[in-house]
Amino acid sequence: MDKIIICGGKKLEGEVFISGSKNAALPVLVSSLLTTGWNTFHNIPDLVDIKTIKRLLESLGAEIEGGETLRINADKLRNCEASYDLVKTMRASILVLGPLVARMGMARVSLPGGCAIGARPVNVHTKALEALGARIKLEDGYIEAKASRLKGTTIYLDLPTVTGTENIMMAACLAKGTTLLKNTAKEPEIMNLADVLCGMGAKISGAGTDTIRIDGVDSLHAVEATVIPDRIEAGTFMIAAGITGGDIKITGCDLCYLDAIVTKLRNTGMDISIVDGGIRAVGEEKVKSVDIKTLPYPGFPTDLQAQMMAFMTVGNGLSVVTETIFENRFMHVSELMRMGADISVAGNRAVVKGVPRLRGAPVMATDLRASASLILAGLAAEGVTELSRVYHIDRGYQKIEEKLSSLGADIKRV
Ligand code: EPU
Repeated sequence: MDKIIICGGKKLEGEVFISGSKNAALPVLVSSLLTTGWNTFHNIPDLVDIKTIKRLLESLGAEIEGGETLRINADKLRNCEASYDLVKTMRASILVLGPLVARMGMARVSLPGGCAIGARPVNVHTKALEALGARIKLEDGYIEAKASRLKGTTIYLDLPTVTGTENIMMAACLAKGTTLLKNTAKEPEIMNLADVLCGMGAKISGAGTDTIRIDGVDSLHAVEATVIPDRIEAGTFMIAAGITGGDIKITGCDLCYLDAIVTKLRNTGMDISIVDGGIRAVGEEKVKSVDIKTLPYPGFPTDLQAQMMAFMTVGNGLSVVTETIFENRFMHVSELMRMGADISVAGNRAVVKGVPRLRGAPVMATDLRASASLILAGLAAEGVTELSRVYHIDRGYQKIEEKLSSLGADIKRV
């Protein structure tokens, strides 16, 4: 199995390009299920999760060609089932539920089950689909949903779930009448999806706020659209500059959607500015510790909590990290402690007492963002860090070791 070996202590310098957003690309690619004709999507990242969603769409009958620019045709869907094998490798497969019922009148999607960061139920997705008139049955570990035509209505989501909002927004596009979706997630990825759906002929307003109005239409057509840059990848590279005391330029994205992370990084003493063609992120010798609390957008993203915690391990003082989105997203703590970090956890709070230096150690990745945090820790540590189970990182960071090497890091995959 692959490992990533990092020899820490190098200040990062140079320029790095941010790829398309994984969490925007996944629902955008799925939205093609609602259309006829060839869709063209640009800025698709080269990631294992993208390969998984392509396999799922192909298993439903979609034709797919291309890479960074991907073309999808869903004219001849022949299957309405997302199998356990696919869903268990990627929970975002649940995104096909709404579009399949809306387009085909039925869907059978394996229940995702728990994962490393929490139980992650999908009850809000199924309840909302039921409100649109779908008959839902849970059988043999599968969600079965049927409806001859969904009917628009007012739906209050019990919590602002990201993929839940996307799932129901897609389904409601082909429903009869108007859907008012309340307490929706406001993440930029939802706005990207809404723009793509509108390009397909959908009538959506309010995406990016907590109420989305969708006026159903009879059919949607193919579109040409571009996926937004990955704000989590951009945040990860900014932290990489901070933790190594480096000076890097991040291109392919701007500061839009990054307010929460940029504010916190500036509070640590980092200098983050807009420069010609990108963002400049400069680290400070002495890192000020800051507290962070994860929240739905525009709050601090849970997907950067682990990376920020790695940064805080070398802060000058105490940092309280509070995770409010997932109940088990501290799996990186024990690995960071193997590298000399001083962290104590009580419930959903971790208190990080900064140490002067981390020491390299063999560590194990437990999920995607935890892997990124351990790589960041390895970049700052004295000596060699050996990260195993690197398949997690390949789900969400395109060629991370190549990008970091190009910034001067001593990192390789073996
Ligand atoms: N929840 C429920 N019931 C539901 C849906 C969600 O209780 O029906 C709970 C979850 O268990 C969690 C909270 O609500 O405690 C928020 O979960 P949400 O549904 O918003 O998360 P998600 O849609 O499954 C997306 C991203 C995650 C990201 C979260 C939060 C995608 C494909 N995934 O997941 O990304 O952490 O939103 O921002 O968009 C990652 O990229 O590493 C990742 C995990």
